[in-house]
This record gives sequence, C-alpha cells and structure tokens, in this order.
Amino acid sequence: MSDWLVAPGPASPELGEKLAKALNAEIVDLEFRLFPDAESKVRLISDVRNKKVIVVQSTYPPADMRIMQLFLLCHKLSEEGAEVLALVPYLAYARQDREFQKGEVISLGVLAHLLRSVGIKSLLTIDIHSSRGLGYFSFPAYSVSAIPLLAEHVRKNFELSNPLALSPDYGGQNRVQAFARLLNLESTALKKVRDRVTGEVTIEDSIPNLNGRDVVIVDDMISTGTSIQRATKFLKKNGAGRIITVCTHALLLGNAHNDILTAGVEEVVATNSIPSPASKIDVTPMIANHYRTLER
Ligand code: R5P
Repeated sequence: MSDWLVAPGPASPELGEKLAKALNAEIVDLEFRLFPDAESKVRLISDVRNKKVIVVQSTYPPADMRIMQLFLLCHKLSEEGAEVLALVPYLAYARQDREFQKGEVISLGVLAHLLRSVGIKSLLTIDIHSSRGLGYFSFPAYSVSAIPLLAEHVRKNFELSNPLALSPDYGGQNRVQAFARLLNLESTALKKVRDRVTGEVTIEDSIPNLNGRDVVIVDDMISTGTSIQRATKFLKKNGAGRIITVCTHALLLGNAHNDILTAGVEEVVATNSIPSPASKIDVTPMIANHYRTLER
C-alpha cells in the first residue's frame, strides 16, 4: 500500500476508485447525503490523521453543489489531521478569471481563496481554461494537459484526409497549436465573438475554401455546444469534409451532444474529467503519474 489515501467525492466516484487502484492507495470511508432541499452532508468514517489524502471531486454542473461538497469534505479531512490534496479534474469558474466588464467578480479568485480556507494544501486540475487562473492560488496549484491524450486518441482512431486542427476561438490558439504539433498538422483559430451581455456567439471570420479537407476542432470544454455548432456550420459552409471534435471537459448541457452531431460533427471525444457519453479517454494514468512525481 502507498502513503496516499484517496477520498472520492460524490461527483467523481469512478475516477476516485481508478486513481486509488493506480496508486495502490486505500479509499477513505465516507458517507454523503443530499437533503430534499439540495443541501449536502458529508460524514468521514476513516481515521486520516497524519495521512496524505487526495480528494477527487470534479465540479461540473450543478457546480455550486459540487464545490460545497468539496469544501465540506476537505474541511473535515483537514480538521482530522490529514494533509489534503485536491484533485478537481474540471475546475468550475475558471473562465471568470478577469473583470471582463467593470464590476464583475473574478469568481476564480474567490474560489481559490475559499479552497485555501478549507485547508487544501495543493490543487491539481486538468487543462484549466487559461494558465492565468493558476496565479490566483496562494498554495501550489497545477494544471496538467490532456492534449497529448486527445492527440494520441485521434492518431489511433481516425483516418483523416489532410486534416486541419482548428480552435473555435483565438483564446484556444496555444491549445490547438500544441495538439497540431503532436500530430504534425496545420492549425488555425476562428474569430469567435461572444456578446458579453446576451451570450450570443457569432463567427466573424473568413477562410479559404477547404475543398473537402477534414477538420479536428479542439477546445478545452464544451458547455452548451454553441461554439462548436457555430464553428461547424461555418466550416461546412466553407467546404469542410469530415469534422470531429475533441475537448478535455464534456459538460454537454441539455441536448448539446445531439445538437453538435446534428450540426455535422461526426464524433465528440473527451476525457473522463466529467462523466458523459463522449468521455472516452481515461486521465487516470496521467494523474497518477503527477502524484508519483510529486512524491519523488
Ligand atoms: C471559451 O472560451 C471556451 O474555451 C469554450 O469554447 C466555451 O466555454 C464553450 O462553451 P459553449 O459550449 O457553451 O459554447
């Protein structure tokens, strides 16, 4: 048995179990309860004194509830004398890492502050929306990239014709370039404009006709799917062949998955940072590796 204990939160039981297996670590005995009014309750049963405990809790929707569960769990573990390491595969609120409009709260800054206050000693997430976000944490915070896993999956599973790697927005330029480098592809990014008040998304761009060329759309997350749908419509109009989409975090709210497929995407591939029908890539080995490296 290793020095670690793993505490799978109610949002990530499978990932927690897989990580425990990969690290040869024991699982912390916990009870979770959700009251009819949607308040959460956590009960710690195991003895965790002087143990390093990795808490695994992804904060996909309902994000506020999952964040509260993370707070409760980490606070109790810390109170009982554990060193708490939080693994939050999908970190909610990471997109609000700036005051885009005057008066907006930098939600990620508040979250970072609260995570510290519940006793978390380090945080690991996957593909944080922007590396700028890590600057809000006053304790060690890391983001590991699933881009190599996504690239490897595409290499093994798709035979694409002269594919172009494409980010649906300029903000994803580094990400798509990293993906493209791994597969030796050309890459580009679209000019996506999101109305800061209504949330409406439009593509204000022009590209040369793709003449049947296949496209891999690369993004960090798919939430409503609107960005991917708009990009797909734009690409089809400009002569794209097959279109597949890869992302790290598949929130896929409501009908997003179907709507994306209906818009013309052949397949959506994501990691299991969030459970979803698209979550085909297991991040466990990458995460386990991160913790093993920390231990050295
Ligand atoms: C935006 O900057 C992100 O990288 C994603 O493109 C965006 O959050 C996806 O949201 P939705 O699926 O709702 O368009």
